[in-house]
Amino acid sequence: MDLFDKLEGRPSPLGPFTSEGYGYYTFPKLEGPLGPEMKFNGKDMVVWSINDYLGIGSNEEIKKTDTAATEQYSLSAPMGARLMTGNSTEHEKLEEELAAFVHKESAQLLNYGYQGIMSTIHALVDRNDFLIYDELSHACIVDGKQLSMAEKSVFKHNDIESFKKQLYRAAKKKKDNSSILVVTEGVFGMTGDLGILKEIIELKKEVPFRLLVDDAHGIGTMGKDGSGTGTHLGVQDGIDIYFGTFAKSFALIGAFIASEPRVIEFLKANSRSQVFAKSLPLPMVVTARKRLKMISEHPEWREQLWNNTLKLREGLREIGYTVLPSESPVTPVLTKGSTDLCQDIMRKLREEHGVFVSGVAYPVVPKGTVLIRLIPTAAHKDVHIEKTLKAFEAIKDYVFEAAEKLSA
Ligand SMILES: Cc1ncc(COP(=O)(O)O)c(C=O)c1O
Repeated sequence: MDLFDKLEGRPSPLGPFTSEGYGYYTFPKLEGPLGPEMKFNGKDMVVWSINDYLGIGSNEEIKKTDTAATEQYSLSAPMGARLMTGNSTEHEKLEEELAAFVHKESAQLLNYGYQGIMSTIHALVDRNDFLIYDELSHACIVDGKQLSMAEKSVFKHNDIESFKKQLYRAAKKKKDNSSILVVTEGVFGMTGDLGILKEIIELKKEVPFRLLVDDAHGIGTMGKDGSGTGTHLGVQDGIDIYFGTFAKSFALIGAFIASEPRVIEFLKANSRSQVFAKSLPLPMVVTARKRLKMISEHPEWREQLWNNTLKLREGLREIGYTVLPSESPVTPVLTKGSTDLCQDIMRKLREEHGVFVSGVAYPVVPKGTVLIRLIPTAAHKDVHIEKTLKAFEAIKDYVFEAAEKLSA
């Protein structure tokens, strides 16, 4: 059979959304300057779907740095992978600053978090080793696992007993030259709950292992100084390899891994997606340094983010919605319902109320449930929260009736 013909019948995780909802439920275009007010299909929207947690995407000082750095260096430079001709003093300085920010000794800049974490896992563990990861891990961890030759096992999401079972199993099977790598997340991006880092780290006393934490949603938002979920939970030292991306709080592209110098030195030479790919353009690196500096100097952005988060969450709960007990700014509203209800909620909020949210249904969440995920940012104002709460109030009878019908 022709490969391309076969693709037409192949099930996609997006199901009917792929073509039917194109441009609306999938691949929507948010236009205009980045921020809580953008345009969708020509209409004004209050946006709750972008991960610009600290409002950096609309910061004028940062925009000036972007322009100046592009004029100075061009978007082309440097050419080549870091290992070959793509290195610069700016890249190295950023690595030093990132390491210091997350309280680690050393850091490796990654040109994309997704590929970076995949290659990190691939490089770290080989066929003699064991890889244990949380079942709700992000796709990049799952893909890293696929690349790895290590023996893999998964534990139930944030379930310490399930984790112990996998850890003890690995400990029993391991040979003298076997090592164990555990991977989980700081903040789980869909549900907003935190990884059980403290409990996991505690078990190092029983079975030695190394812990890699993907803190994509935690960097910048969690911890007094924004250095992430490890700091927030008081266990940053117990995280052996810390991963943060620029894709959210930094409102940029790029990411990094932070760890001991010997590990970073190894990864810089062995992380295939970095060794064999072009390094980040200089203007990106310069602006990442600027963003990091500003995140450090503006703790009030984080405060504002949390104020907005709590206001939004309390408001939604007062109306009667079930907001999952998220410990991060991620605000997940859960209701019973089908894919149709999920689409209806998004459409009604957008068309009737000018509120842009994203939602997911089965298979991303269990069958019969709908999760509407709101991402508050420091740039949201009270008027945005009020408008949104009014919109959720206006559709609540429709949503709750649909949920009741499903339970009946
Ligand atoms: C939990 C998590 N890990 C990793 C990534 C990938 O990072 P990047 O966008 O830098 O490739 C993302 C998405 O940005 C994410 O949400």
